[in-house]
Formats: sequence, C-alpha cells, structure tokens
Amino acid sequence: MNYSDIVMDHFMNPRNVGELESPDGIGQIGNVSCGDIMRMTIRVREERIEDVRFKTFGCGAAIAVSSMVTEMVKGKSLEEAVAINRDDVAQALGGLPEKKLHCSNLGTDALKAAINDYWRKTGHPEKVVPLEDQHLEHESEEANACCGSNERG
Ligand code: FES
Repeated sequence: MNYSDIVMDHFMNPRNVGELESPDGIGQIGNVSCGDIMRMTIRVREERIEDVRFKTFGCGAAIAVSSMVTEMVKGKSLEEAVAINRDDVAQALGGLPEKKLHCSNLGTDALKAAINDYWRKTGHPEKVVPLEDQHLEHESEEANACCGSNERG
C-alpha cells in the first residue's frame, strides 16, 4: 500500500498528540468496522478552536489523519471546523488509498463529536451536527472513564 510523503510525515511525527487539561469539548468515537478508537479534546475561545489534541488507538492512516485534522482546525471557527470533511483531509494528506478512506472519517467525526460535546455543554443542542459515518460515539463522561493505557498518540 502506497502512502504519500505527507501521510508518512504525519504518521512518523504526529502533531498535537495528547490531551488538553480541562477541555471545553471531548469527542471519542470507535470505528464500527475496524474497532479503532480516536479521542479529541478541544479548547474553545470566542467560538474558535484555540487548541486541540488527539489520542488514537488505530492504524497509521488514522494517526496521520488525526494529526492533519488538528493542524487544519486550529484557529478556525467552530462552523468552519465542522464543515471540514473526509475528502478535505484526504486531499490535504496528498491522498489516501481507497481502503483507508474510512480512517479519515474517524478523524473528522472525532472532531465533530468534540464540537457537539461543546454545544451540548454550553446549552446549544440545536447546533449539534450529524457525524459522517456510523461510529460508536461515547458521551464525554464515559469518554473520561474509558481507554486507560490502551491509547497511543
Ligand atoms: Fe481503522 Fe484505519 S483501519 S481507522
């Protein structure tokens, strides 16, 4: 399977790995087909993503996707961030093999789940957006309690 140099760079040197302290939103989803898990935490200031971190238990493409998503959304408004779809991420990575496109859904949907969590916590459930794919979505409290040492970034 051929990966672009950009994918390899983000896989070998992932950006924004880890977890924010006291995040404003947490998104953790599991891919129903492969079982991989991604967790994103965001800090929101004036309706913009000031900071974002990820942890991914998954394939190399999922790690590269997570890293790229965090780079793409930093400083963006929440509306701009939720508008980013899997094709945008795949394109920014210089393309992904067909069989790995679902991995980019995991990235954009983990971000959407974190933003949805923020909307719910701040009393705006009407702003919650649908995810692109079917995932096992965890509520933020559950997300806090699970995963433990299985995660890697
Ligand atoms: Fe599961 Fe890539 S194979 S996210």
